[in-house]
Amino acid sequence: MKLFDVYPLYDVTPVRAKDVFVYDENGNEYLDLYGGHAVISIGHGHPHYINKINHQLHEIGFYSNAIQNPMQQKLADAIGEHSCCYEYQLFLCSSGAEANENALKLASFYTGKKRVIAFHNAFHGRTSAAVAATDNPNIVAPLNAQQEVTFLPFNDEVALENELKKGDVCAVIFEAIQGVGGLDSPKKKFIMAMETLCNTYNACLIADEVQSGFSRTGTFFAFQKYRINPHIITIAKGMGNGFPIGGILVHPTIEPKYGLLGTTFGGNHLACAASLAVLDVLKEEKLQDNAHQMGAYFIEKAKTIAQIKKIKGRGLMLGFEFDFEVGELRKKLIYTHGIFTGGSSNKKLLRILPPLTIQKRQIDFFFTQLEIALNTTT
Ligand SMILES: Cc1ncc(COP(=O)(O)O)c(C=O)c1O
Repeated sequence: MKLFDVYPLYDVTPVRAKDVFVYDENGNEYLDLYGGHAVISIGHGHPHYINKINHQLHEIGFYSNAIQNPMQQKLADAIGEHSCCYEYQLFLCSSGAEANENALKLASFYTGKKRVIAFHNAFHGRTSAAVAATDNPNIVAPLNAQQEVTFLPFNDEVALENELKKGDVCAVIFEAIQGVGGLDSPKKKFIMAMETLCNTYNACLIADEVQSGFSRTGTFFAFQKYRINPHIITIAKGMGNGFPIGGILVHPTIEPKYGLLGTTFGGNHLACAASLAVLDVLKEEKLQDNAHQMGAYFIEKAKTIAQIKKIKGRGLMLGFEFDFEVGELRKKLIYTHGIFTGGSSNKKLLRILPPLTIQKRQIDFFFTQLEIALNTTT
């Protein structure tokens, strides 16, 4: 059977990985500044992570949500402690799109309304309502396009209020730092206004922290740079360091009811063990502080590269914008310099999403190689 060919692939076959490095079948080493798309938070193959998952696998790997699973409460307590969102309630699922799908569905149940406000360049996933709220018509099928979604620019409070005033909006969904869209952020004033306007017009504010959450930006959630309390916060990627797990944090004003949400795989024992191990390591190794400090170091070094015209993002969720498209540069970085980086819908932007364990010497190596790549023609 052939694979359904939907991914344009780089010609690299990783077979092994350790901390911030990935190794191919010929033993070539690659510095991972992409983290498998912002997924690797505590580093590849962390011993604590391996031990916890291994131990859990020998106890019980999976049972459905029809039985008691105290690990879910343990995980809820740990996320509450790390994020200080103690009063929120946790629902577990298995991916970022599923988290946003459940967030949007819950907002619709809660408000009894169905139109969604999303923003230009937003990316929220590839399933039903999540993809409809994604600003990329190429991946929205006619089936998905039935959803009622209005896209607005960031920072236009008047436009947002005009839409909310119509009375049919269930949710405003936003990324505090856009990932796939190219690292743009709404301004602080607009973020505060979103919260106020959602409360005024009975709509749910959904913070999509699928990519930016779990300490990547130097705060546990990227929106926590501002003093807001979204109705729903969605999480995935760094939460499992590669183990598929996602979730939503639900504000206490939204009450649960049996059957409102559900999933077979969400919150299974192995997934909880993986995420609990991630939280242990984040705390033990102070990786949120490291993300903050190494982000600042990346920015300091990037400022010395003349070809970098704009630096976007913060912590270890960064974008370096050039005045040319970076596709060829990314290939050169992989094949000649052994460095994985990310792209975005802004073709001139190089995306940097390393494991949160990265150290200065590895950042120095990247900039040395980047300068060589930029200043050689082959
Ligand atoms: C901000 C954001 N939301 C949602 C998603 C979708 O997550 P998943 O691919 O796990 O469905 C992504 C994936 O890149 C994302 O960056």
